[in-house]
Amino acid sequence: MFTVGQSAPQLLTELPGPASEWLAERLLAVDCPAFEARRGEREELSGASQSPIVYGDGLGSNVTDADGNVLVDLVAGFGSVAFGHGHPKLAQVLRLQAESLWVALGDVYASEAKVRLCERLAGLMPESGARVILGSSGADAVTAALKTALVTTQKPRIVAFDGAYHGLSHGPLAACGLFPGFRDPFASQMGNFIDFAPYPGIHGATADESIAAVRTLLADGSHGAVLVEPILGRGGCVVPPHGYLEELRALCTVHGALLIFDEVWTGCGRTGAMAISLSRSLLPDIICLGKALGGGFPISACVGRASAMDGWSRLGGRALHTATHFGLPLGCTVALTALDLLIEDDLFARAENIGTWFMLELREVLVGLGVKRVDGRGFMIGVEVEGGAPRALAVSRRVLSKGWIVLTGGIDGATITLTPALNISQDLLESFVAVLAAALREEKW
Ligand SMILES: Cc1ncc(COP(=O)(O)O)c(C=O)c1O
Repeated sequence: MFTVGQSAPQLLTELPGPASEWLAERLLAVDCPAFEARRGEREELSGASQSPIVYGDGLGSNVTDADGNVLVDLVAGFGSVAFGHGHPKLAQVLRLQAESLWVALGDVYASEAKVRLCERLAGLMPESGARVILGSSGADAVTAALKTALVTTQKPRIVAFDGAYHGLSHGPLAACGLFPGFRDPFASQMGNFIDFAPYPGIHGATADESIAAVRTLLADGSHGAVLVEPILGRGGCVVPPHGYLEELRALCTVHGALLIFDEVWTGCGRTGAMAISLSRSLLPDIICLGKALGGGFPISACVGRASAMDGWSRLGGRALHTATHFGLPLGCTVALTALDLLIEDDLFARAENIGTWFMLELREVLVGLGVKRVDGRGFMIGVEVEGGAPRALAVSRRVLSKGWIVLTGGIDGATITLTPALNISQDLLESFVAVLAAALREEKW
């Protein structure tokens, strides 16, 4: 296993340091104005500076910022850098592939790497005959899945869930239940093909209420699919009760709707399995993978069983869903190596074992410190704090000031979300628990 880059924070300046401040100011002047607006709102909410650090380089679970400060990364590229920064094997295959072939011709003339990756991903499905549509982002994989549901079932509507996040391009955005503010400004450009159902644990809904709502929606026969995250990621690491996903499976089967598991975040080892939907024999019609699939390189996949994908063959003689960089050899080669690493380094077991230990440790140590919930699975853990988004932001700034990088998430921004690399050292996690406890103690609620 890759074990370098596991140092405790080493800070040379206050955070952010002068070089980060200078670069961040320059970026604000040219980046999308939305980021400046977000920073302003967060500063107002939390009463703390939200001025960012700027990354310099990364190694393992360490990031060095523009001022030379060494930090510990508990976010890992929004969960994508699952093997740590600068993994030598991934870097090597990328280098070799870069010297050989960067881009083939997608759906026209493929590369061998694409052939091998599609075979490998199709082989994940329990039945033979599975098909794969590659993409560059998680949103691409979900877009492919949404289109697949329509072309195969001929039913236009989709059931999605409150609290869900599937990416922000127009198709997946329509299914974003995390917070209406994501959809509302673009409503006039979006298709009206989504019906939202409650997700267990979101806005107080129970699993029974959620299942009843899905049943009612599917009963009218107009829904081609149910699109679900088996654990809500950005929604705050919310785990539905046991048996819930099985009930969704049964409903989809009865009503002839595809069951699409968006495992862009949960998949590729993060929760201790290649995919939750595969480890639990949920017979997924489609699985969307992304993030960790490329170890940080942008590549994603919509993997569907034969019966779910066959609608594509009835659309005439055009490849109706493709893009310049879909299936590019650079990404395919990295993904093949990433899939190997999950097995070679036994990272499924590590996420399951060390992740569970980490969650239990957090639960035990954070008692009495204004924490509502510590939940998740494997290395996808949410700590929901009392005091809402203002306190979560203030706590995350406080831990940043000590050299630990975390994010906030959840439907109301009150969850501190932890998605470290799957090979992070247990010592670092143990140190972090103490740092988080101290920050929670200092930020009253
Ligand atoms: C469950 C899930 N699906 C899809 C996406 C979108 O992925 P991307 O940001 O790569 O488009 C995300 C991103 O966080 C996600 O968590």
